[in-house]
Amino acid sequence: MTVAMITLGSITDLRTLNDVCTRTFLPAAGENIVFGEGPEHAKFMLIGEAPGEEEAELGRPFVGNAGRLLNKYLQEAQICREDCYVTNVLKVRPPGNRTPRKSEIKEALPFLIRQITLIRPAVLVCLGSVAVQAVIDPKAKITQIRGEWQEKYGIKIMPTYHPAAVFHDEDKKEWLKKDLTEARKRVY
Ligand code: URA
Repeated sequence: MTVAMITLGSITDLRTLNDVCTRTFLPAAGENIVFGEGPEHAKFMLIGEAPGEEEAELGRPFVGNAGRLLNKYLQEAQICREDCYVTNVLKVRPPGNRTPRKSEIKEALPFLIRQITLIRPAVLVCLGSVAVQAVIDPKAKITQIRGEWQEKYGIKIMPTYHPAAVFHDEDKKEWLKKDLTEARKRVY
């Protein structure tokens, strides 16, 4: 076990984990770390890819265009966003919103895993292939496993599409709504 893992394993609350993330990840000038937000013991946890421009500016996840779409689909699935803990695989915005690099995911993953195990949600929803591959399996194909319950760390996981990826695709939009509804049914 690496020193970083031992340190993370000894962290027992989200605030301390947030502090450690702030010391570990360096956002670009004028930007913020986006650690995540929501109830400490939320039943629902949602994981996206990485903060975008508005998220990095405000230090909050899913507050830009993708966030507005997420809110809409959550509402349609009768899930209250305030009841969800929302975060991303990466805690800082990749320059120019590029796709996260494997090395960035590798560095951020132990923090995300600690975040998941501290929150211990009843249901975890992975939004998009970056979250699916980081949390479930690096070889997983979203088109093959979306909508099928997975389990990791003793937590039920629903892999589904990222809200930004379904915008122009009616079929994917329906799948995302169906998957979120399925996730809600397991909790309530
Ligand atoms: N896309 C994500 O995956 N996460 C955010 O927080 C915003 C956009």
